[in-house]
Amino acid sequence: MTRMSISTDVREIRGLGDSWTGWRPTTTVSSMAAAFLIAFACAATVLAIFGVGERGTSIALRVTARWSFFLFWLAYTGSAMARLFGPRFAGLARRGRDFGLSFAAAQVIHVGLVIWLFYLAPGSNGGMVFFWVGILCTYLLALISLPRIRDSVGPRLWPTLRTAATEYIALAFAADFILGPLQTNKLGTHPLTYLPFALLLLGGGGLRVTAYVRQQLHANEIQRL
Ligand code: HEM
Repeated sequence: MTRMSISTDVREIRGLGDSWTGWRPTTTVSSMAAAFLIAFACAATVLAIFGVGERGTSIALRVTARWSFFLFWLAYTGSAMARLFGPRFAGLARRGRDFGLSFAAAQVIHVGLVIWLFYLAPGSNGGMVFFWVGILCTYLLALISLPRIRDSVGPRLWPTLRTAATEYIALAFAADFILGPLQTNKLGTHPLTYLPFALLLLGGGGLRVTAYVRQQLHANEIQRL
């Protein structure tokens, strides 16, 4: 038995599937724990400086959103970058699920702050269905990425669900980093707190579309041969 087939068998026994080459038992859990703790530390620091009232909570929400966006972006663009720019980015693509689950772990703090804000200002929780659907997508993705559930969803439905949920989350970020700031002119008044994130998001979307189009063209070429 070759070394590769042994490692494949071990991955299968652990139920990790093909994309988990180089996986170490603690990687996913420790990435999630680190993401959660960093988000927690950011929120605690902001609340300690600005207070636990509405102002401090609102700033903490903005800070945790930016940290979780960083993790989301890596999950969002990793495989597109590997497809477009080659094996240098293969590691990033391979760790897509780690980044996605780390994003979900960091978002727990965002949700905690949202609940705290509702407690501080009861009645301010209307009109946020759009963002709650984003949270639903986040944890649905995390759930379906579990090998056993992913296998029962099937290889046809899983990529569709993953793409739909991921793009929805990207849309939620776009609402806060692009649409909202454009409407309130925050892009002009606070360019550094919005522009880099807006550009990363647009760039990430562009990379994904380009990688998809290239893959389709390649598939068509193969079919014609
Ligand atoms: C996947 C889902 C979500 C994403 C992607 C997201 C994203 C963001 C982003 C990017 C910001 C920073 C906005 C800024 O700097 O102006 C933010 C802040 C905030 N979010 Fe979320 N969020 C999500 C879920 C939610 C939910 C479910 C709620 C509440 C219903 C919520 C309430 C807030 C509030 C109140 C702020 C602070 C806004 C401010 O004070 O300017 N978010 N979120």
